[in-house]
Amino acid sequence: MKNLKNLSLLSINSWLEDRLKTNDTISFIAQNPDNNRNALGIKAWVNIAELHYCKLLTPEKISNSEIRLYFKKLNQNNSFHTEVIQQQEEKYGIQSKFFNIDKNREPTFLLAYKRALEAVKIEGRKEVLNLGINKADEFEFIRELIGEESFNKINFKGIDHSQTALDYAKNRFPNDNVKFYRHDINTISQLNLPKSDLIISIGTLQSPSINYKPFLMSLIQEHLTKNGALILAFPNSRWIDGELIYGAKAPNYNYSEMSLLFNDVIFAKKYLQQKRFRVTITGREYIFITATKINN
Ligand SMILES: C[S@@+](CC[C@H](N)C(=O)[O-])C[C@H]1O[C@@H](n2cnc3c(N)ncnc32)[C@H](O)[C@@H]1O
Repeated sequence: MKNLKNLSLLSINSWLEDRLKTNDTISFIAQNPDNNRNALGIKAWVNIAELHYCKLLTPEKISNSEIRLYFKKLNQNNSFHTEVIQQQEEKYGIQSKFFNIDKNREPTFLLAYKRALEAVKIEGRKEVLNLGINKADEFEFIRELIGEESFNKINFKGIDHSQTALDYAKNRFPNDNVKFYRHDINTISQLNLPKSDLIISIGTLQSPSINYKPFLMSLIQEHLTKNGALILAFPNSRWIDGELIYGAKAPNYNYSEMSLLFNDVIFAKKYLQQKRFRVTITGREYIFITATKINN
């Protein structure tokens, strides 16, 4: 078995690139990082695996100086990003690969979302609107965070155009204070909803069906109360074979490129600052924009 103990990171990288051309799973020996400060640690191996579109399987300890590692190639065709679904509204519906994803089990997503909810003081909000609610994972986490009693004091509304996702969400939340609307987000005004004091939209506003910049401006002007807050999240990642892989995918690049993401994030930040919001940008695989009103 190949021993990578004394190789530089560049040489390790070249060896992996070469082996992964012809193998779906590879294993090799490396230094045990528990007793050697100069050895590559498990975090480094997780990153190396991810950068090679692999999953790191559970390492085996051979001795105090050596470990055995296994990389398993991800199936890059097993992704909702490349999935073809005829009915556009059902691209994220119950039959889609997207539907099996549980973002609430991803620490870099969940803890950033938790921080954003705390920043907007979720428990004190009265009318929460979620655009692109899908199966309502984002409401589920709020319920867990603040508890059933506080959750039931807030009115929640979720909009999506996927009927199957909404049917699933309604089953999860038969509560009177939670309502779901099958509607095109672009024409949200037609629903005549009361203004919300918190609007959440995760992984949705960059969708090709939405004209992001004018839509965001109208959302803030027409659908948010005077002291309303906003939580937006934009993916800086792709879901491949069940794994959340860091880095935004951009057209015309075969590696992660973040110009579009930064452009959209900075547009929101500048616009919100003009409208006298305090804005933070946080997160990692999902970039969160959290905006609260500056009162003076
Ligand atoms: C990528 S998913 C994100 C769902 C959820 N927020 C999450 O992060 O798991 C985008 C969601 O927005 C919905 N969507 C996209 N464009 C829409 C539109 N124009 N009107 C209504 N829903 C839309 C999709 O059906 C889908 O459920």
